[in-house]
Amino acid sequence: MPPMAAGLVVFFFAVLFSAAAGGDAAVVEHTFVVNQVRMRHLCNDTLVTVVNGQFPGPALEATEGDTVVVHLVNQSPYGITIHWHGVKQRLTCWADGAGMITQCPIQPNTTFTYRFDVSGQEGTLWWHSHVSALRATLHGIIVIRPRSGSYPFPKPDVEVPVIIGEWWQRDLVKVDKNFSIGGSFDDNPAAIAINGKLGDLYNCSGVAEDNFVLDVEPGKTYMLRLVNAALFSEYYFKVAGHKLTVVGADANYLKPFTTDVIAVAAGETIDVLMVADAPPCRYYMAALANQPPVPDPQIPVFVSRGVVQYSNIPKDAKNCTEKSPLMPVMPDQHDTITTFYFHGNLTGLQPGGNPLLPQVRGRVDEHLFLTLGKGSMCTNNKTSCKRGGNPESFEVAYINNVSFHLPDTTAVLQARYYGGKLNGGRGAVPVQDLPSRPPRAFNFTDPALIPVVPGGKMEELEPTRKATMTRRFAYNATVEVVFQSTATMQSDSNPMHLHGHDFFVLAQGHGNYDATKDVRSYNLVDPPMKNTVQVPRLGWAAIRFVADNPGAWFLHCHFEFHMAMGMAAVFEVDNGPTLETTLPPPPSDLPKCTR
Ligand code: C2O
Repeated sequence: MPPMAAGLVVFFFAVLFSAAAGGDAAVVEHTFVVNQVRMRHLCNDTLVTVVNGQFPGPALEATEGDTVVVHLVNQSPYGITIHWHGVKQRLTCWADGAGMITQCPIQPNTTFTYRFDVSGQEGTLWWHSHVSALRATLHGIIVIRPRSGSYPFPKPDVEVPVIIGEWWQRDLVKVDKNFSIGGSFDDNPAAIAINGKLGDLYNCSGVAEDNFVLDVEPGKTYMLRLVNAALFSEYYFKVAGHKLTVVGADANYLKPFTTDVIAVAAGETIDVLMVADAPPCRYYMAALANQPPVPDPQIPVFVSRGVVQYSNIPKDAKNCTEKSPLMPVMPDQHDTITTFYFHGNLTGLQPGGNPLLPQVRGRVDEHLFLTLGKGSMCTNNKTSCKRGGNPESFEVAYINNVSFHLPDTTAVLQARYYGGKLNGGRGAVPVQDLPSRPPRAFNFTDPALIPVVPGGKMEELEPTRKATMTRRFAYNATVEVVFQSTATMQSDSNPMHLHGHDFFVLAQGHGNYDATKDVRSYNLVDPPMKNTVQVPRLGWAAIRFVADNPGAWFLHCHFEFHMAMGMAAVFEVDNGPTLETTLPPPPSDLPKCTR
């Protein structure tokens, strides 16, 4: 291994062994150099855009209450932003890194410094770029340890990041562009990786790709910090011969429960404990992408595996040293029920109680019912055209039949602060309020809507418009959002992510949401707090949050194709009455908008 690569490996795995406890809040400072390097997998040298030469990128480790300072040096040919996924960014919306929402991209050969605190959250988050589809290779883990040094469960001996990502051999900027004009079903990743290793299910000319290997000592407890950094899919994760105890998700603690299968939605993080209590041997860990069955469009089956290897395998145990490790029995790739029950099992554990719960229980100021699905628009800005797969129209994704258009002249937050138009030029895309309900009610989850065919059931439901949708909330408003997944032209689940706020997930269900009946199933006692909710396929999920963080916050599906196709909106939260509840001015080095 070349010395540079060895150094990087040491850097990445340093997170396995370091531990921080107690002490005063510190400043955690990093320099992230974004550039393009060639990496070789599957017999191909691929030019990829990464941070500090690493895929995945460097881990950001902090203790709750610390200040994080990241100097972003952009040596890539693209405009870049970095989003700190799940970091609440209280009063630091300017550092949220959502391209064209909170800032314009950091142009090539320029720098910007992100500064924010990690307060009131413990567990696993992650960072990723937030322009086009570049996050496929520009991402890394964020670990926030408790200041007290103690967890609401026995302290694990070792912490292990398990980052599930995709390996792309395509031009990701082009991939993003393709999605925005209707998508191309050939745009698939080449492989799946665990911590950057594709694993031995992938090979080229008979040479298997390396596995991620976790060396374990018998009896020790390992905390696996799972991150789904993939653009496309939700993953099932298992380790052969081992049970996993779920203790946290999205940097919030959960009531522990034990299972043998984890479902991790796109954008989500799950923390699990694994005790090395199996007979000393070698075991596969595996991550399998799930997808809805036909008639939904299908992508290839993606599985990656790593190895859990005991330190005390007897020398003569040939079945452990010579045979291939035991493979876990994975759910079917079309199984979308296991994730429903997995996510339904999550209940919150807030040591000391969660201060937001009483507010959330007491009153709801704003009710939103948001349908998530696909529709179509006519090419060349025509208002009527043939649909149902006819090339006169192209597919878009929507919320309430509006497909989100990222501003093209300035970022939403900058426009709000300085004034100015979000979209300019002739035929500018309109800016409008996110409607509270869809334009019409229909049987949202009718499977007959899935196939895209001329004259199909969908045709009258397809028409969708483009707009830059925002929704303004008064400071401290309690907002309830019911997300309804639809069967329109596809029946995928929708991992919805909100920036700048954690929310309670109150309930989920199959079929169409029915307010009178379904509010009775709300968990107002110990709901889990999340930043990403897996809205079930052909089902719904209800969340509530308190809009107490002034700024402009992106709300979007964490499937990259859904987001690029328009399944997004911006929640704008007003300033409160005091200085402590007012968004401070932007940092002086905030990138200029170039148009
Ligand atoms: Cu992880 Cu707006 O995203």
